[in-house]
Amino acid sequence: FNVIKARYVASAVRADQYPPEDLPEIAFIGRSNVGKSSLINSLCRHHGLARVSASPGKTQTINFYAVTAKLPDERRLEWYLVDLPGYGYARTGQAQRRQWTRFVEEYFLRSSRLKLVCQLVDLRHLPQASDVAMYDWLKTHDLTVQVVATKADKIGRTHLARHIAAIKNGLQLETGGIIAYSALSGQGRNDLLDAIGQILLK
Ligand code: GTP
Ligand code: MG
Repeated sequence: FNVIKARYVASAVRADQYPPEDLPEIAFIGRSNVGKSSLINSLCRHHGLARVSASPGKTQTINFYAVTAKLPDERRLEWYLVDLPGYGYARTGQAQRRQWTRFVEEYFLRSSRLKLVCQLVDLRHLPQASDVAMYDWLKTHDLTVQVVATKADKIGRTHLARHIAAIKNGLQLETGGIIAYSALSGQGRNDLLDAIGQILLK
């Protein structure tokens, strides 16, 4: 299907700052700098919608974007994409890390509107301890997870399958596949939109 509109709605660090509209939510989590904000821009084909930066720790709040898409049968579908601050950034202090954990966990646990968590990992590297811990935490809390491997343009086609297998193994992926994604080329965009559509239409 086609995204026809995407707009920034709100930033939050507490539950009372979440937007009031009752729309389903698709959230994006991953290490700092893995490409969450870039992926949101690429999915929406809206350059500059979410702020991107070459230095990690750019996104510091929970940011909500309202997206409208048109289905092949002309029906409209509306939901929030939720951009979360990254984890695993070495230069953040203890206090900030605790704060991160508190407000991201609060987000994951309070939301009945949260339909899918897209966990992003870098396709080039094995999942790090923080990625494994995040995946296990999400699974423990019965959240539906789609793993997306980012920066696919940096890996040659011939190495793709090997890297995907290594990530599956590293995360001990329970079910489902991994989508290889490139925000530069748009590789994986249709697959991820399909996965989101399936969840939203369920
Ligand atoms: P934080 O907000 O700091 O947690 O980072 P983030 O996960 O939102 O990452 P962001 O989208 O800001 O991207 C980080 C860097 O990676 C930027 O320099 C992007 O240009 C680059 N990047 C993101 N996605 C891709 C991709 O698919 N391919 C390539 N080559 N670079 C990418
Ligand atoms: Mg970001």
